[in-house]
Amino acid sequence: LQSSQTLGLPLAFHGTVIHSQGLDELEILENCFILVDNTGKIQALQSNVNPSQINSFISELGYAPDVFPVKYLQRGQFLCPGFVDTHNHAPQYAQRGVGRGITLMDWLNTVTFAHEAKFKDTEYAKHMYSRCVSGFLQQGITTASYYGSLHGKATQILADICLEKGQRALVGKCNMNRNCPDWYTDSSVQESLDQTREVIQHIHNIDSESKLVRPVITPRFAISCEPDLLHGLGVIAKEHPELPIQTHFNEARGELEFTRRLFPEFRNETELYTKFGLLSDRTILAHCIFLEEEEIEEIRKLGCGVAHCPVSNTTMDSFMVAPIREYLRKGIKVGLGTDCGGGHSISMLETMRQAFVVSIARQEATRVEDTSLSLAEGFYLATLGGAQVCGLDERIGNFAVGKDFDALEIHAIELDTVGIMTPVEEEDTISVIFEKWIMTGDDRNIAKVYVQGRSVKA
Ligand code: GUN
Ligand code: FE
Repeated sequence: LQSSQTLGLPLAFHGTVIHSQGLDELEILENCFILVDNTGKIQALQSNVNPSQINSFISELGYAPDVFPVKYLQRGQFLCPGFVDTHNHAPQYAQRGVGRGITLMDWLNTVTFAHEAKFKDTEYAKHMYSRCVSGFLQQGITTASYYGSLHGKATQILADICLEKGQRALVGKCNMNRNCPDWYTDSSVQESLDQTREVIQHIHNIDSESKLVRPVITPRFAISCEPDLLHGLGVIAKEHPELPIQTHFNEARGELEFTRRLFPEFRNETELYTKFGLLSDRTILAHCIFLEEEEIEEIRKLGCGVAHCPVSNTTMDSFMVAPIREYLRKGIKVGLGTDCGGGHSISMLETMRQAFVVSIARQEATRVEDTSLSLAEGFYLATLGGAQVCGLDERIGNFAVGKDFDALEIHAIELDTVGIMTPVEEEDTISVIFEKWIMTGDDRNIAKVYVQGRSVKA
C-alpha cells in the first residue's frame, strides 16, 4: 500500500509553468525547465531555458541526461499545481445534485443521513469510495480534506483507497451522536471516541512513511455532538498536536439558532469550539458565513483556516455569501471547498467560478468596500491558499523547489473543437489561454495529474 514504492524515475518538463507566489501574484514562467527527483520532490525550477541547454542543466544536477526523457510542452499546454479541496464529504459523492433549495437541517434529515448510512456496508464503501477518489483525481484534486461517514471501518477504507490511488488526503471519521436518526448515529460518546482513535491509528499504520494520507479530527458540527463528545475530541486534539481538525462553522441561520438553543452558555460558535479545545492554527472551518466582528478577530488570532464553499452556500434555501475579502484583508488563511454533496459539483474550476460570482455579490452588498476576487486570487485559493488551510503549504501549493510535485498537465488547445472551452486563437497570450481554461475549460483539459511525482489519473 505504500505509495512511495511506486514512485518512478525522475521527471523533467520543459514549457510553460503557472503557479501562485502569493494571493494576487500569479507567476507565469515560460520556457521553464522543471525537474522532479524520484521521491517526488521538485529539485529544479528555472525559467527561460533554451532546449539546447537542457542536457547540461541535467548533468549539473547530477543526472545522466539519457536516464529520463524530457517532456516538451507545446503551445497551449502548461503545468499548474494540483487543486486542494479543503472541504468535502466522501459519502455524499453519490447524492450530489439531489435536494437543492431546502434548508440545511431538512437536507441533512431528508437526503443526506440516509446516503451516509449506507457506508455501514463495507463492500458498498469500497465500491463508492473508489469511484469517489477516482472522480476527484479526474478533476485535478490532488489533495482533499474528507469527512467520512460516522463508520470507523468505512473511513479506514477511504484512507486505504486514497493511499492506493495516490491522492493526498485528510480523512476523518465524522463524529455525531445526537440530533440525527437512531439508524444513523454514534451509539455513545465512548464508541465515537474509540472509533476516532482507531481510525487515527489505522492511518498512522498504513502511511507511516509517505504521510500522503493524514487523519483529521471531524466533529460534524456542535448540533450533532453532545458536550462530552466535543470535550473528548478536544482531548484527542491535545494528545495529537500534529492533527488537523475540521468542522462546519457558522453555515446557516437555522444552524446558528439551533446551536444557540443547545449551548445557551456561549455567546457564539467561536467561544463554543474554543472552550472545547477545537480551535487552533490547525483547524479548518467550513463556510464561515455569519461571524461577528469579535469572532473574526478571534479566529485570526488563533490562526484558523477558512474553507470557502460557494457552491453549497448558494444551493440550499438562500444565497449565502461569506465575507472572503475581509478574511483575506485580515490575513486569515482561506481555501476553496467543493463541499460535495451540499455542493453539486466536484470541479474546482466550477468552485472558483462560483467564488467569483459570490465575490461580486459581496462587492455590491458592501458598496465596493469588499472588492471582488481577481482570477489570480481565485486560482490562489484553489491551490496555495488551500494548502495553507490544510497545513500543507511547506509541502505543496506551488512549484517552489523542495516541495512535492503535485501538478496538473493542462492541454488547453487540442480539445477546443470538442469541449466547451473557448477556442484558443493564434494571437492569444498564455495568460489569455489560462483565463479561458479557468473560466470555460473542464477536466477534459486535464491531461495528466501528478501527486508526489506519481501519475495518478486513470
Ligand atoms: N453541517 C452539518 N453536516 C453538514 C453536511 O454534511 N454538509 C453541509 N454543507 N453542512 C453540514
Ligand atoms: Fe460540508
